[in-house]
Amino acid sequence: MNNNSTQVRFTTPFHSHATAAEVVEGVDLSGRRVVVTGGAAGIGAETVRVLAGAGAEVTVATRDAAAAESMAASLAGAPGTVRSATLDLADLSSVAAFVADWRGPLDVLVANAGVMALPARQVTAQGWEMQLATNYLGHFALTVGLYGSLRAAGRARIVVVSSGAHTATPFDFDDPQFERRPYHPWTAYAQSKTADVLLAVGARRWAADGITANALNPGWILTNLSRHMDEAAMREMGAIDENGEIIPQPYLKTVAQGAAVSVLLAASPLVEGVTGRYFEDNQEAPPAVPGVPGGVAAHALDGDAADRLWDYASAALG
Ligand SMILES: NC(=O)c1ccc[n+]([C@@H]2O[C@H](COP(=O)([O-])OP(=O)(O)OC[C@H]3O[C@@H](n4cnc5c(N)ncnc54)[C@H](OP(=O)(O)O)[C@@H]3O)[C@@H](O)[C@H]2O)c1
Repeated sequence: MNNNSTQVRFTTPFHSHATAAEVVEGVDLSGRRVVVTGGAAGIGAETVRVLAGAGAEVTVATRDAAAAESMAASLAGAPGTVRSATLDLADLSSVAAFVADWRGPLDVLVANAGVMALPARQVTAQGWEMQLATNYLGHFALTVGLYGSLRAAGRARIVVVSSGAHTATPFDFDDPQFERRPYHPWTAYAQSKTADVLLAVGARRWAADGITANALNPGWILTNLSRHMDEAAMREMGAIDENGEIIPQPYLKTVAQGAAVSVLLAASPLVEGVTGRYFEDNQEAPPAVPGVPGGVAAHALDGDAADRLWDYASAALG
């Protein structure tokens, strides 16, 4: 069941390569409290910079405490404030500690951190496959843990950074942890990113609390995310040429452009009240078409799958 098949697709005036700063130009986020996971690098760092620049109080939550602190220090002169906090999404005790330390309402949670294409299957202490654990389960635990703070904000937003990769596979409820099927780095990444969209869809249960949740594809941006890819893989996907040089692509975005959808969903008044949708290029994405890049797969917007996954993850949290 596609939960929004009857809805008109949501549009904004922003073009596909608008920057994060452009999509919140003139927006005052004073008094708004934001958490950005993985906020010390790549798209997350730009998200932090722009939201703090618009006056928000932003907490950079990442496992690298030194990087988070240096991020906060570098933005000391911003109109908003930037705090650092340690959070390892692959360790549920770290997530629990972050939640226990959080005080007061939370206006925006940007679930941005992620890992991609780990070459070999790794598992966490809870026995979860590492990409699913980091990209999805840790964020699920964080979101559920912070529910009371989100509700207290009155009109909180949850923003989940997924990927166009989600179109490659639905969530495999029969073997989500790759215990019986062969592990594949990209299938595991794609599955985790489908789970991320389903997290946003599943959060519709909190609509009566004024909480909205949307997922997004930031586009293709050159960051450290590709650290687990070797040159052969980069060449195969057309990212670099035979000499290892980056092949310029029209769809390639800068980090400033890649953070735009996150910032739009986190802070723009245009999307107030919009929930359970998937965005890319600063618009709600059209349905995915096989062989055509982009779009959102029906399997990621499936309300039944979202509820089933919510129950599955809740059971893992105990
Ligand atoms: N770049 C793209 O083209 C692209 C495309 C589609 C989707 N995305 C998504 O965009 C998001 C941001 O990616 P990016 O490109 O900005 O990559 P990035 O530069 O590698 O940033 C990822 C961030 O996640 C953090 N992180 C990783 N594992 C973590 C964990 N266990 N606990 C807490 N933080 C953790 C990293 O911290 P460390 O520095 O400590 O590792 C880093 O701050 C990801 O969800 C990614 O899947 C990116």
